[in-house]
Amino acid sequence: MPSEVAERADFSTIRYAQCWEDADILVSALEPGPGKTCLSIASAGDNTLALLARSPERVLALDLSRAQLACVELRVAAYRCLEHYELLQLVGSSPCKERHGLYQRCRTYLSTDVQSFWDQRNSLIEQGIGSIGKFERYFRIFRTYVLPLIHSRTVISNLLETKPHDARLSFYEDCWNNKRWKFLFQLFFSRQVMSALGRSPAFFRYVEGSVAERILLRTRYAMTELDPAVNPYLQWILTGTHHNVLPFALREENFESIRHNLDRLEWRCSSIEDALDRGERFDCFNLSDIFEYMSEDSYERLLRRLVSRSNPGARLAYWNMLAPRGRPKSMAALLDPLEELSTTLFAEDKAFFYSAFVVERVR
Ligand SMILES: C[S@@+](CC[C@H](N)C(=O)[O-])C[C@H]1O[C@@H](n2cnc3c(N)ncnc32)[C@H](O)[C@@H]1O
Repeated sequence: MPSEVAERADFSTIRYAQCWEDADILVSALEPGPGKTCLSIASAGDNTLALLARSPERVLALDLSRAQLACVELRVAAYRCLEHYELLQLVGSSPCKERHGLYQRCRTYLSTDVQSFWDQRNSLIEQGIGSIGKFERYFRIFRTYVLPLIHSRTVISNLLETKPHDARLSFYEDCWNNKRWKFLFQLFFSRQVMSALGRSPAFFRYVEGSVAERILLRTRYAMTELDPAVNPYLQWILTGTHHNVLPFALREENFESIRHNLDRLEWRCSSIEDALDRGERFDCFNLSDIFEYMSEDSYERLLRRLVSRSNPGARLAYWNMLAPRGRPKSMAALLDPLEELSTTLFAEDKAFFYSAFVVERVR
């Protein structure tokens, strides 16, 4: 089955140097425990590694992009040979003046092609490997040039401090949500600016309505209903680092189990459509938001293929950002939406750009 998005988007550069999807809700949705076989869209690797922490039998990571798989391979090498605090330094979650030395230690564990991919990006490594994708550059431009026009450093630090719910609401209304915030946010996160600076225009093909308005509402939710002080995605977007507020795969409590299970992980440069032709069966599918970039017909065709490659009871998890996708009625005999679980987990989603988190179970 040919991949629709592969024909349109450019995959020659690192697009995502981190996964901008909340691994906490992903792991809760998929329950990737012992005996389970997982298929996971690779992206930068963090969420695939998060699945490994629960000791499934096997995880197969796929991506259309060799650049993304080079990110996965470097992270795997880092888990193998670095200490936890050094991994955080390499990624950019902690400060470090000499990331090159950390890379040199990881380099021994890389394949020849991936060594040369990263050797050509020496100066980027010094910035922290979590900061060098096109998407992270987009956030950096926002943080460096747009945010200072709206809020002072003091106000930004204040937003990121722990507060009770009531205080978060009043801080948002009284200090944060001023005219400049609303205007510049809507401008910067408009479809036109996003396409020019961050996301491939191909990714907006199936999106309707105002992109920025919807993201603004979700951002308000993340800043008020959720606690910004424990949100790694918000911390990074606003400050360029994690300040010890870490996503699942980078938290110390998950480091040893991920390291221990690295041999259960395999990665492959392939579209998911092609990978399914091999006839393997899976229990857990991390599908990122790949359906965002497909027509409804392609979505249903792929969903049917995924079900045909599932073990009974297998779970699928995916995000909608702007294009609504969820099990069509025509597949009711094959797939059950886990609506309550989806809603509960979506309410906890710390990566706040999405409009839905979908969890479905194969009959
Ligand atoms: C779907 S993107 C989304 C990342 C993030 N949610 C965002 O939009 O900000 C994550 C990864 O999926 C890969 N990808 C997209 N469609 C794919 C497909 N059909 N098969 C395999 N990988 C795919 C891309 O190369 C990318 O590295």
